[in-house]
Amino acid sequence: MAEKSWETLEGACYSCRKCKLWERRTNVVIGKGSRTADILFIGEGPGQQEDLQGVPFVGPAGQLLDKMLESVGLSLEDAYIANIVKCRPPGNRDPQEDEKAACLNYLRYQLMLIQPKIIVCLGRIAATTVIDPGFKITRQRGQWFERKGYHMIATYHPSALLRDETKKRPAWEDMQAIRQKWDELKG
Ligand code: URA
Repeated sequence: MAEKSWETLEGACYSCRKCKLWERRTNVVIGKGSRTADILFIGEGPGQQEDLQGVPFVGPAGQLLDKMLESVGLSLEDAYIANIVKCRPPGNRDPQEDEKAACLNYLRYQLMLIQPKIIVCLGRIAATTVIDPGFKITRQRGQWFERKGYHMIATYHPSALLRDETKKRPAWEDMQAIRQKWDELKG
């Protein structure tokens, strides 16, 4: 990947066979939203609907994420949404270490193209991969971290909110904090 461009990234991703997830994929799921966004949301990996459509967060978790963004006045014009792995883990299992490692350079490449100010990790997998391997989502969500000039935060994954209603309130507070940080950074 010599020249940094979306076309180069897409070409590399669409032909990628760096881990076994390529064997069962319908589509590679790269991302959606504004390519000049200040806020980058990172999920875990495509689910069934995402694999079929080639777009992240289009299933039930995605619909909830849309609502949460909307509730704090954010949209895909302000945000870009990607995942730790770009191909669906079978049966929606957690992505394995070798799969995450194989895919991470694509996310780094996306980061360089987008240059967001804020990175939001959705759930444990994203937070332990991006912020800290020992990250405890229940204890450390909602806290800001600064790394390499990025403001980083983790919140619950929308799928966790669908399973446990009591997590909705703290997740919504995190969204408000993200909105507030964005407002501060915009000046
Ligand atoms: N869950 C994720 O982590 N990512 C998606 O794209 C969809 C569901």
